[in-house]
Amino acid sequence: MPEKELVIKQTDIAKRVKELGAAITEDYEHGQLLVVGILNGAFMLMADLVRNIKLEMEIDFVRVTSYGMGTTSGTLRFTKDIELDVQGKDILLVDDIIDTGRTMALLKQSFENRGAHSVHFCALIDKKERREVGVAVDYVGFEIKKGFLVGYGLDCREQHRHYPEIYHLKDVYDV
Ligand code: IMP
Ligand code: MG
Repeated sequence: MPEKELVIKQTDIAKRVKELGAAITEDYEHGQLLVVGILNGAFMLMADLVRNIKLEMEIDFVRVTSYGMGTTSGTLRFTKDIELDVQGKDILLVDDIIDTGRTMALLKQSFENRGAHSVHFCALIDKKERREVGVAVDYVGFEIKKGFLVGYGLDCREQHRHYPEIYHLKDVYDV
C-alpha cells in the first residue's frame, strides 16, 4: 500500500461540516431545498452535512460518468439519475472534491435545463488551482493546493473511501 500522510483530522472535518450546515441553513431558509449527492464520493459528506442543515429538505443522489472531459464540451451520462422532481427546486449539489470543475459545470447545466429554480455547489475539498471551467463553489470545506487525497469518501481506484479522516496518498501521482 502506498505511504499516506494525514492532511485533515476527523475533528476538523466535523467542525467544518457543522459550519457549512449552519451557512446552508441560513441561506435556504425560504427555499425549496433538494440536496443532491454525487455518488460515490459524496456518501460520507452527505450523511454528515444533512444532519447539520436544520431545514426541511429532500435528498437524492446521482451517479455520472463523463465523456470528452478533455475538451470544453464534455457530456455527462447518468448511470443513476435522481428520482425526485427538479422543477422549481433549489438544488444543492454535493461532492467530495472539486478539481477541474467539469463535472459540476455539466451537472449545473443539466439541472437548469430541467427547470431547477437555483443550482449551487458544496464540496468538502476545493482544488482551486486545478480549475478549468468557471464554476464557483458556494460552500467549501477546505482549500487544498495539490496532491492526491483519499478518505472520507475520496478514493484511489475505489479503495480508501472509508477512512474517517483525509490523507495525502504519496507516490500515486501528484496533481
Ligand atoms: P472534476 O472537478 O470534474 O475534475 O472532477 C472531480 C472528481 O475527480 C471528483 O469527484 C473525484 O472523483 C475525482 N478527484 C479529483 N481529485 C481527486 C483526489 O485528490 N482524490 C480522489 N479523487 C479525486
Ligand atoms: Mg468522485
